[in-house]
Amino acid sequence: MPIVTEQLSYVYSPKSPFAKQALNGVTLTVADGDFLGVIGHTGSGKSTLAGHFNALIRVQSGRVEVDGIDLRPKKLDFKLLRSTVGMVFQYPEYQLFDESVERDVGFGPRNLKIPPDEIAERVRESLEMVGLDYEGVRRRSPFELSGGQKRRVALAGVLAMRPKILVLDEPTAGLDPRGKAEILELIRRVKKYMCPTVIMISHNMDEIAANCNKIAVMSGGSLVCVLPPEELFTRGDLLKEHGIEMPAVTRIANALADRGLDIPRSLVREDDLVAAIVAAKRGAIKAATPAKPERAQKAENNIPHTDAVKDAAKKGGDECVTFR
Ligand SMILES: Nc1ncnc2c1ncn2[C@@H]1O[C@H](COP(=O)(O)OP(=O)(O)O)[C@@H](O)[C@H]1O
Ligand SMILES: [Mg+2]
Repeated sequence: MPIVTEQLSYVYSPKSPFAKQALNGVTLTVADGDFLGVIGHTGSGKSTLAGHFNALIRVQSGRVEVDGIDLRPKKLDFKLLRSTVGMVFQYPEYQLFDESVERDVGFGPRNLKIPPDEIAERVRESLEMVGLDYEGVRRRSPFELSGGQKRRVALAGVLAMRPKILVLDEPTAGLDPRGKAEILELIRRVKKYMCPTVIMISHNMDEIAANCNKIAVMSGGSLVCVLPPEELFTRGDLLKEHGIEMPAVTRIANALADRGLDIPRSLVREDDLVAAIVAAKRGAIKAATPAKPERAQKAENNIPHTDAVKDAAKKGGDECVTFR
């Protein structure tokens, strides 16, 4: 198993007046090939949990195993661990430091005393993986790049270690919508071609729903549950109790279902929603007039829009779905 935690607890500044219990008995398994989303309010312990996976935060109580490496012993093979788990912190661009992109990305492999030829190869591979032109950026200072490019360079530096597991702490925070979409696209590419197991902390339920096969919900240092998105986002009780927002796609699916359309309420991905709407328009799914007009009007007023859904509505005609 890539990652197993068992009864993992952690206290910052223990035995001091400032002691703060950040994790409380977290037992979690992340399987090979998982794209695990970690959600929860600020202060719920997400970053503390993630920090354990590359031993930046050391195990105080409980157990953590990463790709067969027990992280409890004081002495660890950190080189092996850093080549196994790639950790992308919040705002990773703040950690860029070297004079050129090439040197910055090659920093980790240089520390591993890898031969220069292989370092150059890894730097090229990593920059290409994050969608940057190797020849175009290698000699540039990382500090003269745009915000989105800096973040890509920082990610390339992690990928140059060729980790099997990639952990991302709020990878799209602070980016504009286009920058967010680009980073997510490249994370999907990295997962497909490089790191089969990805863990992503995010506050954005649309990002989580669209990409993850499992979602871990954290609250007050405890793990509340681990569920597939289709299940979590239809669990009204959990959403309410933990203040979890529904992804836009699920809200639209629910609004349409409220209006009598035979569309599953558990949809979490835009493509699936578009397909369901198109199918409904083609008559494959029976569209019914809502039984309660008042409720329907209320639902209509609450329908969120996405461009893809509007396009689908245009394509499909307008007798049962109207968008304003
Ligand atoms: N370095 C630290 N020293 C003391 N308390 C900390 C430190 N880092 C985090 N905490 C506290 O631990 C709890 C969990 O924090 P964190 O893991 O950063 O949560 P999240 O990533 O979900 O926002 C919070 O109450 C936070 O204030
Ligand atoms: Mg955090």
